[in-house]
Amino acid sequence: MNIPNEIKKPNLLSVEDAKALDLPLMTEYFKKYLNPGQLHFMKLLGFNKIRIERAEGMYYIDQNDRQILDFFGGFGSLAFGHNHPKILAARIAFQNEKRHEIAMAFLSQYAAALAKNLAEISPGHLDMVFLGSSGSEAMEAAVKVAERAAGPGRSKIVYAENSFHGKTKGVLSITDSPLYRGQFRLVDDTVRVPFGDIEAIRHAFEADPEIGVIVLETIQGGGGIVTAPPEFWQQLRALCDKHKVLWVADEVQCGMGRSGRFYAFEHAGVVPDVTALAKSLGGGKSAVGAMIASRDVYMKAYGKPNTALIHGPATFGGIGEACITAIEALNLLYDEGLIANSAQQGAYLLDRLKGLQAKYPKIIKDVRGQGLMVGLEFHDFSQTLPALLRSIISVLDEKLKGSLSGFVGALMLRDYDILVAFTEYNRNVIRLEPPLICQSADVDRFVDALDDLLSRGIVGIVKDFLASQVKQ
Ligand SMILES: Cc1ncc(COP(=O)(O)O)c(C=O)c1O
Repeated sequence: MNIPNEIKKPNLLSVEDAKALDLPLMTEYFKKYLNPGQLHFMKLLGFNKIRIERAEGMYYIDQNDRQILDFFGGFGSLAFGHNHPKILAARIAFQNEKRHEIAMAFLSQYAAALAKNLAEISPGHLDMVFLGSSGSEAMEAAVKVAERAAGPGRSKIVYAENSFHGKTKGVLSITDSPLYRGQFRLVDDTVRVPFGDIEAIRHAFEADPEIGVIVLETIQGGGGIVTAPPEFWQQLRALCDKHKVLWVADEVQCGMGRSGRFYAFEHAGVVPDVTALAKSLGGGKSAVGAMIASRDVYMKAYGKPNTALIHGPATFGGIGEACITAIEALNLLYDEGLIANSAQQGAYLLDRLKGLQAKYPKIIKDVRGQGLMVGLEFHDFSQTLPALLRSIISVLDEKLKGSLSGFVGALMLRDYDILVAFTEYNRNVIRLEPPLICQSADVDRFVDALDDLLSRGIVGIVKDFLASQVKQ
């Protein structure tokens, strides 16, 4: 073997170099090495002009010390806000004590404790935990455990219109986006039903005995914050029991207290067979996903030594610091009363937004949600704008043309220092998922700013947006 005398270090940036990258270089590297197409959207919304220096609590802080109020909340990943001091302290102590991270060979006290906590919180027999590092991975685990427990000949999966369960290949098969699914070859044993339609599900179960699993977000996020009433979930539970179909509840976005209960399905007083968490489970500091299955389901799938390794462990599932971050996060959720705060502030936010809807009925079509998972839907104005403006915005991106949400999002940031989120499948909806530490003063600041913006009228908003594009 040829042993080189010297291995030359490539031209690498250091950690300090990374922290010091300025906007032009960040943009250049993003374009060259990460995702050139995504830059197009960032430019449209004006997000490309901001370089975040720090983040604390409800705020991002940029290069000019501008404080940006975060009502986007990483699509529900920031229940504790940015850099919660207790989460930081737990992580720093873990590092200072030189605890081990990778636990493939030995038992991990951190993974064991996190699993015990999740079982303690989860109702019914939801006791068995698989740990991973993303929502997609947790959902892959959920679908696989259910498929194995459903048994041979019952591998068909029911999923909902406008669902989002992740972009890895398995869960992409039950994610209802023609764009994301594209030309990929997916699992074809699936049946699609309208979300919240119990009769469609009943019909599917009765028509096809090969259906063994149904997967639903308890609150649809990517679909535009869509809920179903408690009776739907109660009837679903009964129907699943009758047909021996396993119900997988995707709580990746709506779980961890966001809806005003730890799990959104708890509002209906029923328990699924399998569920999944991610996003805020990592305390806003680390990547943690968890599948939680009922003991019976798990034991059927992987309960014996010869089946135990079929799905697990994952290299980074149960990694030490991620686990202790999640343990601290779960404790904080209760110690700081964040679930109750989510219910309270969410109700206040909905109430104030309903006031805005009454004030601007021609602009706001609907406001809806549960806890601090709120959607605000604008009327589609693509056909009602004055012809001249319509022709000007016709050159904009397909997603923005008929949608006020893009213009509102861009101007909320530009003029009011507030960040909101958009919605994959419904371009007329802005998603509001602020950290669960949100206070009524934050809600007031957000709603007052939106009120001020909407008072410009649709034409005013579109013109102001276009003006900022021209200046770019
Ligand atoms: C409901 C739901 N499931 C699954 C996922 C996938 O999670 P991740 O992006 O961590 O893979 C998401 C992400 O947005 C989600 O909202």
